[in-house]
Amino acid sequence: MGQDIGTPLHVALEPHDHGETSTMVGAAIHNGRVVGRIGRAGDLEVVSETSEQGLPSDFVGRREEVASLQSGVDAALEGRSSFFLITGEAGIGKSRLVEVAMTYAKALDVRVVSARCWEAVDSPSYWPWIQVLRELIAELDDSQLRSLDVDSKEIVRLVPQLGKRLGFDQLPSADAVGDRFLLFDSIASLIRAAAARLPLMVVLEDLHAADESSLLLLQFLVGQDRNRGLMVVGTYDDVVGGEKAHHEQTLSETIRQGHHLALRGLDYDAVKQLYEGSAGMDPSDEMTRAVYDASEGNPFFVKETVRMLTRKGELFRPDYSIGFRVPEGARGVIRQRIAAVDEGVAELLSVASVLGREFDLTLLQKVTEIDVDPLLEILTQACAADLVRETSALGRYAFSHILIRETLYEDLKAAKRMRLHRTVAETLEEPFAASQDSNRFELAHHWFKAAQAGDPVMAMNHAIDAADHAMSQHAYEEAVRLYQRALKVSGAAGASVEILERIRRGLAMAQSPLNHSDPVTAGHPASSGTFICEGDFWTIGYSGLEIRLKDSKGVQYIAELLKLPGQEVHVLSLVGLVEGHDLHVDVPGAQEDLGSWGLGDAGVVLDAAAKTAYKNRLEDLREELEEAQGFNDPERAARAQG
Ligand SMILES: Nc1ncnc2c1ncn2[C@@H]1O[C@H](COP(=O)(O)OP(=O)(O)O)[C@@H](O)[C@H]1O
Ligand SMILES: [Mg+2]
Repeated sequence: MGQDIGTPLHVALEPHDHGETSTMVGAAIHNGRVVGRIGRAGDLEVVSETSEQGLPSDFVGRREEVASLQSGVDAALEGRSSFFLITGEAGIGKSRLVEVAMTYAKALDVRVVSARCWEAVDSPSYWPWIQVLRELIAELDDSQLRSLDVDSKEIVRLVPQLGKRLGFDQLPSADAVGDRFLLFDSIASLIRAAAARLPLMVVLEDLHAADESSLLLLQFLVGQDRNRGLMVVGTYDDVVGGEKAHHEQTLSETIRQGHHLALRGLDYDAVKQLYEGSAGMDPSDEMTRAVYDASEGNPFFVKETVRMLTRKGELFRPDYSIGFRVPEGARGVIRQRIAAVDEGVAELLSVASVLGREFDLTLLQKVTEIDVDPLLEILTQACAADLVRETSALGRYAFSHILIRETLYEDLKAAKRMRLHRTVAETLEEPFAASQDSNRFELAHHWFKAAQAGDPVMAMNHAIDAADHAMSQHAYEEAVRLYQRALKVSGAAGASVEILERIRRGLAMAQSPLNHSDPVTAGHPASSGTFICEGDFWTIGYSGLEIRLKDSKGVQYIAELLKLPGQEVHVLSLVGLVEGHDLHVDVPGAQEDLGSWGLGDAGVVLDAAAKTAYKNRLEDLREELEEAQGFNDPERAARAQG
């Protein structure tokens, strides 16, 4: 970049004025893009190694999307607000695109706060927002905090540290329906106030892994017309997230307030450029074509393939176009990469995959019982192989891509996976872990995943505990999900009548605000549809009707039952009704259309939104049934899956 800082630079002085907090008095602009900034002392700081458009030299394609995001940053500097949602499959380049936008924003002294949802593990409700709030609050001193026109008491629900700083010892009561509006409004006010001090870019990564309340809060925030200088950017994997009807619905409403950047595969030229850059050589057209076709332009896949070829020394084979075959799918390439590292590294990473996309060194150490030094040694090797990376939080690591975590996790045998979940759960119960407030959700998650091979009582109790907590934060959807989970395992846990009653009461309380029509004080109508397994009975609520079914064997039964609303029917009397269908729930192509589930006539009485919600419920149900079957004979289930 050094050679570029010459005559073509245009220096814009005082391009914006944001009060005392700004240290930048000018920007160095090259070809219309910021490449450096000029501080008060007249010092020039180069923003990054950049090519044209101020982009990193190893960044390919995506010019329109970059321009769109940059205009969002420019708008924030002028006091306007915007929302961007970047969607696309895993590895398509959502995070990389956001990174480019963040670099641009930082160069212009826009304050950037970024948060990532936890993929693959239950996280605390509002987790992405908790991270954002913590960061914003940490920047304010107590008097600044007090001077904000914000109801801080509400925010204490999510950030207890704030309560300590401001001397509140009690949370406001949690049951009033309207409270969620207060909570959302307080958070929105705080973020708005921060953006008024300095233009602010809030990045929420991996929203497909967010809880529903977080998405509703997002919708609330970006729907405000009082925002000034606030840019919100979210990323969302619509392949994974597409199964969640609620999420899609909330986001599609939110996106009306903003811009949708739907990322598809890179084009041929961009793939070629990426290949060239990663391999450090000019690939042949046959080779590029082979990689382009196999990857469908997914940059993660392209880079992994090049890495594999490099490792095998096949990059330079003169005849590679003849014998070369790209392994099937990104997972195939990842498996090869994992196979290439030491067995000890691969084994450790398998265990780590149970902890989620991100994991804690201390927890991993306790779970594996490997001493810290050898453990660090293994992790160093894993980092060198770029399978994991250190995160900005001390002692915390993350798989360098979710696909690596997924591949490792899916390749674990089911019985081993459950045992590991159990070990993790037991470890999290130990005193060292007790102080962390996110633990109750992780505990609920691991005990539940371990339930078949573990302790259903623990799974039930932790689900109740996490549900109660979600309730205290007005995260009604989460609470519903967790109470339902508690019910799901209650049979296996041999729950007493009192406990069942307590769970049902909790569930009813969590559901009641959701029947409200306001999206903030409420959730979605779909949430009030219920498929609940209580001991030997399924309760199916739909369209205001309730059906109770004893021992469900398959969704076809439910389809039949939908035609008999309000009646209690024993499963045996249904057999005659369901003809010509495979009764097993494991219907191939389950994601396709309702017809393949044998829904028959029931399909046509549902409108599109209800269908999606219903389909979703069927997915849940399938999972529940599989689990329920397992509970009848846990050992057999473990054996069968192992
Ligand atoms: N436009 C791009 N140019 C160069 N490399 C890219 C580009 N987009 C993505 N990559 C690389 O591909 C990999 C996957 O991208 P990432 O942004 O993590 O995907 P996602 O967030 O959609 O899962 C990363 O190594 C990233 O650096
Ligand atoms: Mg990503």
